[in-house]
Amino acid sequence: MKGILIAGVFAAFAITVIDSLECRQCQSLNNSCSIQVVTCEEGSLSCVESSVNSTLGGSLYSYQNKFCSKSNCTKNETTQVAFTVHVFDDQSYHFASQCCQDGQCNDINPGSISQTVTNTQCSACYSYNTTTCQEKTRQCFEGEQCVHIIAVQVNDTEHMLELKGCSDISQSVCETLAPENTTFGEFIFQKVQCTNATKISSTTTLAATTTTSTAIKASFASSVFGSLLLLKLLF
Ligand SMILES: *[C@@H]1O[C@H](CO)[C@@H](O)[C@H](O)[C@H]1NC(C)=O
Ligand SMILES: *[C@@H]1O[C@H](CO)[C@@H](O)[C@H](O)[C@H]1NC(C)=O
Ligand SMILES: *[C@@H]1O[C@H](CO)[C@@H](O)[C@H](O)[C@H]1NC(C)=O
Ligand SMILES: *[C@@H]1O[C@H](CO)[C@@H](O)[C@H](O)[C@H]1NC(C)=O
Ligand SMILES: *[C@@H]1O[C@H](CO)[C@@H](O)[C@H](O)[C@H]1NC(C)=O
Ligand SMILES: *[C@@H]1O[C@H](CO)[C@@H](O)[C@H](O)[C@H]1NC(C)=O
Ligand SMILES: *[C@@H]1O[C@H](CO)[C@@H](O)[C@H](O)[C@H]1NC(C)=O
Ligand SMILES: *[C@@H]1O[C@H](CO)[C@@H](O)[C@H](O)[C@H]1NC(C)=O
Repeated sequence: MKGILIAGVFAAFAITVIDSLECRQCQSLNNSCSIQVVTCEEGSLSCVESSVNSTLGGSLYSYQNKFCSKSNCTKNETTQVAFTVHVFDDQSYHFASQCCQDGQCNDINPGSISQTVTNTQCSACYSYNTTTCQEKTRQCFEGEQCVHIIAVQVNDTEHMLELKGCSDISQSVCETLAPENTTFGEFIFQKVQCTNATKISSTTTLAATTTTSTAIKASFASSVFGSLLLLKLLF
């Protein structure tokens, strides 16, 4: 009797849990998010939470969105995507997004990367809604690799963001987002390409300098020789 009662209570509890998915909800641009906990409408399967903090272009842009979602995130192997792309000195792009089936999203701790500069580099640039991404070279921190990311928001596919730079992105996130047009949360990643940072080779720099100086010497020598020849002809 007691067992049946407990089982009954447990079943009722399980049903209530399934029936009332609760998610944190808020949306903000350049502001703090005033979070409300809401009961999701029927058909919702998960909670999605995203945030972006960007200093591209030299000004801070921050975005947060938390909502009830119809996506079944247990189907997706990766339920959390977070990375930072260092583009220029003091210009970076932080992205974090997660899908939580049980309604309890944890705050993503953006992995702190050691700020030890290495002798590796990536080409770096960003563009928003333009096709020109003016590349510079970015020296990477330890543990970073090169990324090339093109992303849009599901409800705003006209505006695309292109990013190149050094990133702490994990190999598993790279693999998850690598297929063209992978949707994660509210974003569509049209392109995500990760490659090892290239070594800044001191020998190539040295070789290049040597070549130049030899060339300069050669042209100097020939001009001296030319002038001598000219002098000889004149006298
Ligand atoms: C957020 O800040 C950025 C940089 O200052 C600015 O370009 C953008 O228009 C701001 N957005 C809003 C909604 O205020
Ligand atoms: C969600 O996906 C999992 C794993 O593929 C599956 O077992 C489950 O039935 C799905 N749930 C719904 C409501 O579609
Ligand atoms: C952006 O900044 C907010 C407020 O400081 C923080 O809660 C959030 O985790 C940050 N997001 C990312 C992706 O760094
Ligand atoms: C962004 O690009 C799209 C497509 O070229 C265009 O329709 C839209 O007006 C552009 N928006 C801005 C703000 O430049
Ligand atoms: C990805 O999306 C873009 C833009 O909507 C489209 O041009 C392209 O054909 C898509 N690629 C694939 C493989 O679906
Ligand atoms: C899970 O993957 C499906 C398709 O692969 C996609 O439509 C859905 O948005 C993804 N969900 C999340 C939370 O990324
Ligand atoms: C996208 O637009 C649809 C329809 O207007 C809306 O229900 C949904 O909340 C929007 N999604 C996001 C992530 O803003
Ligand atoms: C990239 O770097 C990793 C770790 O440093 C290494 O295991 C891997 O072989 C490298 N891949 C290529 C293509 O060089």
